[in-house]
Amino acid sequence: MKTYLRIQTVLLILLSLVACHSVQKDDTSITSPDEKLAINFQLEEGVPMYHVLFNEDTLIKPSRLGFELKDQPALKDHFELITAEILQADQRWEQPWGENKTIRDNYKQLKIQLKETTELGRLLTIYLRAYNDGVAFRYEFPEQKNLKEFIIMDELTEFDVVGNPETWWIWADYNTYEKLYQKTSMNEASWVATPVTMKTDNNVHISLHEAALTDYAGMTLKQKKDGIYEAELTPWANDDKVRTSAPVKTPWRTIQISSSAAGLVASDLILNLNEPNKLDDTAWIQPMKYIGIWWGMHLGTETWYPGSRHGATTENAMAHIDFAAAHDIRGLVIEGWNDGWENWGAKDAFDHMTPARDFDLKKVAAYAKENGVMIIGHHETGGDIPAYEKYMEAAFKQCQELGIQAVKTGYAGGIYPRGEHHHGQFMVRHYRKVIEIAAKYQLMLDVHEPIKPTGIRRTWPNMMTREGVRGMEWNAWSDGNPASHTVTIPFTRGLGGPTDYTPGTFDLLYKNAGERVKWNAEDISQTRTHTTLAKQLANFVILYSPLQMASDLPKHYKGHPAFQFIKDFNADCDESRVLNGEVGEYITVVRRSGDDWFMGAASNEEIRAFEVKLDFLDANISYTAQIYKDADDAHWKTNPQAYTIETKEVNADTTLSIQLAAGGGQAIRFVKK
Ligand code: NOJ
Ligand code: CA
Repeated sequence: MKTYLRIQTVLLILLSLVACHSVQKDDTSITSPDEKLAINFQLEEGVPMYHVLFNEDTLIKPSRLGFELKDQPALKDHFELITAEILQADQRWEQPWGENKTIRDNYKQLKIQLKETTELGRLLTIYLRAYNDGVAFRYEFPEQKNLKEFIIMDELTEFDVVGNPETWWIWADYNTYEKLYQKTSMNEASWVATPVTMKTDNNVHISLHEAALTDYAGMTLKQKKDGIYEAELTPWANDDKVRTSAPVKTPWRTIQISSSAAGLVASDLILNLNEPNKLDDTAWIQPMKYIGIWWGMHLGTETWYPGSRHGATTENAMAHIDFAAAHDIRGLVIEGWNDGWENWGAKDAFDHMTPARDFDLKKVAAYAKENGVMIIGHHETGGDIPAYEKYMEAAFKQCQELGIQAVKTGYAGGIYPRGEHHHGQFMVRHYRKVIEIAAKYQLMLDVHEPIKPTGIRRTWPNMMTREGVRGMEWNAWSDGNPASHTVTIPFTRGLGGPTDYTPGTFDLLYKNAGERVKWNAEDISQTRTHTTLAKQLANFVILYSPLQMASDLPKHYKGHPAFQFIKDFNADCDESRVLNGEVGEYITVVRRSGDDWFMGAASNEEIRAFEVKLDFLDANISYTAQIYKDADDAHWKTNPQAYTIETKEVNADTTLSIQLAAGGGQAIRFVKK
């Protein structure tokens, strides 16, 4: 209650810093507070266009805005400008968890009201914002006589990016983001998912994405004309794109901009464009590390369904609880605990209330509680939305009664009703409903096969983490993720929000896994993890997730000296800095949790050496650096397990030399002496 009152007071003071004034009609341009970025609006023969400049150079050439609608004329031209208003804001706000707990929201906004000059005289409002770390715009369909309920058939928003920048992208797909990134010129990246990252000839880094996707279709970007992306929205089964009614606002279209790759990662733009927290009490929302009865199924040593290799037995769950309790790990996800896994893929397969025949749910939940371990419930829906929505609330209620405070959901499979897509408005609505009902039962969420992150975690902080990435599991049953993958994610998918990648494999070649039975068609018998062991540790820091999984089997952690880093790692981060990085090549991130700082540095397939200043540490205090690094002869391919642990006395004046093996990494904990 106290915290809530404090935040309210702070908000009241800060709101006084918001100023608003109307401007001359032709003054339709704003700059960022530091004046480096500018976004302007213009009507070209009645067609709405925007244009973005960085350091006075054009970054996005004049690009059109507008919509095609169903059964009525398009809303894209014959406009006149009614009013243009500029507003300025500079506020700070707090979040219960995040890469940074305090965030500055500092921007200028231009609100443009348009009216059609044709008989219909429909209204369209466009909000454009300029922050120091990027620009954004959104549409509003105001309440009006000639536009009530309507259907968007095509959003005509364009991004005419200057030149032909280097682009890191995955193929657009209406159902999955679990793909490897490609690096090509923009012209070759013909149809992409967002976030998509680019670097111009002038080394300006940009990421195109969206924020506050709440009741709309997920956006992909397609080059309909060479060098110009146009929004391509994920359709409903009948090809409608968005079913809506005025008044309504669209998601923000975002362009994060920075002169460095590291600057992109530090951006708070996506969060700032979302609505404030709706939950009064957030004390139950707590970042944590977790382990799982999980990796064994992916490796094929265990099964989700009951039988001689069933992972989720009462006995195995209790052993995992003992392990978690003994090693400072708060959470445990148990997959395969419920009925229905034999029928995965079929309609009405899963029952999220009834335990599997060899799993005593009540006993396990009570044992977890006794030992201070939190069970993370698991609801694989297989994509069967009508079935899940039927008893989701009852299942959440059961979780709450059993003391379960987090649920991992999953949508592995085609969506029922058939024809709907994971990224369409149908599913965006479903994912939102799940978040709201989960909040009612005080449940944190980790969503697999999700809609991409667009900053909803600010509004609903129980929406902790999500997959939406080609995660660790692909190393268990496919040709795996190359070393460059996890040094690409922070600059691409990671810009949207936390990533449940699930790092932490120690048995990198699966030599000690036991007998593995192939279960996935992607498995071409060449499975392994393509990193060194030290890089697995570094990924705990680099790949931000407030629910951070140590994904290997407990038997591979038991007694392993490097496991100490995972034990010490604190997932409840207070602040973060990105010290260096280039997309797909390397990155160094530091995060503070209380008094400790953690550093993660990692490389792609290249050997690397660089120096980092430790000036983020408190001045005039000595720290012990507990360093977990690649051994001199480590190499992801030939010698991945070779690592060393050393300690050093350091302070804020120290410059540290970092050496990374090919596919390697380094993880450090800095503790005050
Ligand atoms: C895919 C998820 O990404 C994975 O974590 C989970 O184990 C399986 N689906 C089964 O639910
Ligand atoms: Ca998945």
